[in-house]
Amino acid sequence: MKKPDFKKRYPYYLANRPVTAKTELEVLDKYSGKRAARVSFADAAAVRKAIVAAHKARPAMAAFPPDKRRDVLEHCVRRFEERADELALALCIEAGKPIRDARGEVTRLVDTFRIAAGEATRLGGEVLELGISERTRGYRGMTKRVPVGVCSFITPFNFPLNLVAHKVAPAIAAGCPFVLKPAAKTPIGALIIAEVLAETDLPKGAFSVLPCSNEDAALLVEDERIALLSFTGGLVGWELKARAGRKKVTLELGGNAACIVDADPGASLDHVVQRLVFGAYYQSGQSCISVQRIYAHADIYAKLRKKLRAAVAKLPMGDPRDEGTFIGPVIDEAAAQRIEAWIDEARAGGAKRLAGGWRDGTMIPATLLEQVLPTCELYRKEAFGPVAMIEPFDDFDAAIDAVNDSDFGLQAGVFTGNLAHAMRAWDRLEVGGVVVGDVPSFRVDNMPYGGVKDSGLGREGVRYAIEDMTEPRLLVIRG
Ligand code: SIN
Repeated sequence: MKKPDFKKRYPYYLANRPVTAKTELEVLDKYSGKRAARVSFADAAAVRKAIVAAHKARPAMAAFPPDKRRDVLEHCVRRFEERADELALALCIEAGKPIRDARGEVTRLVDTFRIAAGEATRLGGEVLELGISERTRGYRGMTKRVPVGVCSFITPFNFPLNLVAHKVAPAIAAGCPFVLKPAAKTPIGALIIAEVLAETDLPKGAFSVLPCSNEDAALLVEDERIALLSFTGGLVGWELKARAGRKKVTLELGGNAACIVDADPGASLDHVVQRLVFGAYYQSGQSCISVQRIYAHADIYAKLRKKLRAAVAKLPMGDPRDEGTFIGPVIDEAAAQRIEAWIDEARAGGAKRLAGGWRDGTMIPATLLEQVLPTCELYRKEAFGPVAMIEPFDDFDAAIDAVNDSDFGLQAGVFTGNLAHAMRAWDRLEVGGVVVGDVPSFRVDNMPYGGVKDSGLGREGVRYAIEDMTEPRLLVIRG
């Protein structure tokens, strides 16, 4: 298995070129806590240069033909497949992601670039009938999509490859130059993507990937040469939007996703349990659509609770490099302490512990609670850890109301064999996506993905991101 070369100092990429900076950032192995790699750390001057270069690259990127954009994206697909083991191991170490989840993410990275390669040659427009009255007779209109210009991207630690891919691949398909700041805790994935992009003939200045501090990244939010800011992360995204001036902003800010299990779940309880375990605990719950709240109908509550409790208690925790590990570390000790404090608060409020509930450094076992008060942090906020709660309900509409009793609204899951309930859920749940027959954590990389309420603004999912990264340009023809 090819391993990432953690002996070298990873360069950052400024205007398509690798740069080894004097200042370095240490990337920790999230399981051992020891230094795993060193990365060149960019400063505000590098960010400014990257924006200038990207701004200059706008005409070349807009004129870069669709088939060439597709070729670039297909090159990435090939190279990511060749480097899959290395990418997975890098993720496993820099994010503490269990190796099986890390391999899954590499597969999705490849999918996302492949979808974008297809979209690159499908940027269509429409023909408009303008002859709506005597005054306009003889006029025709048509639109095409043109790139918005420079995009700035800020990405989180939990999917260091695929959430980078969801910004970078559509930008290339759309013809937008970009500057990306990866999460400082997990920059390696993005830097390997940049290394692969540097092998292509993208126009000079088309891309920069700059690990840097939030302060030095201020220009990515505020500079008026940037046409679109796409941010994935926490609620701070709303503050960034307030500082972003006239640029378009898309935000994906997470949630406290819920899953309803109806009296007739439409599948065996064993299957439901298997999916809930995946949805709540895979990559230690560090996903914006991790199952945090489970509402189960009173008729099946006791059985589901028993089966779920048994399955959760068995989940192996340990070194993310081990094939058998399901639960690895959370990203850092501060996150682990916060999650522990939220569990303690819920228990002090009367919540019952069904599994887990303790902490050892950055390790928190899969935790399941019931009777969590709706006023608790664990109920109201995004846990971003291996913690879920289960509550009974009697009436399907009351379960929908409970799901909606949240400041967030990203995705929700519904297990039901009742078609009318499935349709009611789709009608009434205040979320960006309803998944019937599975957990809210299910995502395919070509589907529209994004939330309502505090969960964000706009949609990703390649084609939907391309819509944001382009705008219609109208042509009117008389005669
Ligand atoms: C996220 O955490 O927002 C991404 C979830 C996913 O892509 O599966």
